Amino acid sequence: MHHRPAVEIKGLFYAYPDGTPALRGVDLLVDEGESVGIVGPNGAGKSTLLLHLNGILQGRGEVKIFGLPVVKENLREIRRRVGLVFQDPDDQLFSPTVFDDVAFGPMNMGLSREEVVEAVKRALGVVGLTGLDRKSAFHLSFGQKKRAAIATVLSMNPDLLVLDEPSSNLDPRARRELSELLQGMKVTKIVVTHDLPFVFENCERVVVMDEGRVVADGEVFSVLSDEDLLERHGLELPYGFYPIRGENGSAAKGRKERKKVEEDTAGDI
Ligand SMILES: Nc1ncnc2c1ncn2[C@@H]1O[C@H](COP(=O)(O)OP(=O)(O)OP(=O)(O)O)[C@@H](O)[C@H]1O
Ligand SMILES: [Mg+2]
Repeated sequence: MHHRPAVEIKGLFYAYPDGTPALRGVDLLVDEGESVGIVGPNGAGKSTLLLHLNGILQGRGEVKIFGLPVVKENLREIRRRVGLVFQDPDDQLFSPTVFDDVAFGPMNMGLSREEVVEAVKRALGVVGLTGLDRKSAFHLSFGQKKRAAIATVLSMNPDLLVLDEPSSNLDPRARRELSELLQGMKVTKIVVTHDLPFVFENCERVVVMDEGRVVADGEVFSVLSDEDLLERHGLELPYGFYPIRGENGSAAKGRKERKKVEEDTAGDI
């Protein structure tokens, strides 16, 4: 099978203007259609890395998106194809109403008024904010702001969906619905999160970052069942959550499944 790269990052270094070295030589390849989780402790450089995917930050090294180098003349095209949801929804929402925020992308893409209204309606429906389109984002709860921020990129039908902590502050049902929504979306996805079960649910592959570097990269089960690796990089699975490998070799989760596997294999001994 021919793999076309969605993201190619080679030797990326970035230091913030105050001198903080945030990325210290990151290499990352993501193929079209992949769903990749990025995990790691606070300050590892995860958000900084994401900000390089649509040129908000430009460090030293090479970043290509769908084959296009992230340089000034390609930014318009790259930002049309990459939907980046920021960690802090207040960075994403700046218009007088939720409608205007979600309409901003499709409007810039030159869609007709009807098409824009349709795209906004669909995106707000998907994140469960139907009926709140006339509200100001200032007056939404934090979880509702997270959902609105996600809607602002869904309305653009991105080819690469980049989410920074999408499940934080969502109530359990909204979190599950977001997870199911992502599983149903066949676009390329990169998800930064501290929610390791969310990675099991949504990603085949996980990248662990620490101190501005990629320290592990592989199949979710193999990486996240490596207790020493998790320990070394400040990662912990939630209490009561045991990753196990499902029948088809993919990651499965939870005490119930583990118990079932133990029962199924009990007679074999
Ligand atoms: N605007 C900024 N100016 C200076 N330093 C910054 C800035 N933003 C982040 N940093 C620093 O860069 C490093 C990487 O930060 P980054 O936000 O990428 O981490 P992160 O992995 O996303 O962490 P978290 O899990 O807390 O979101 C940290 O040391 C942080 O203090
Ligand atoms: Mg971050």
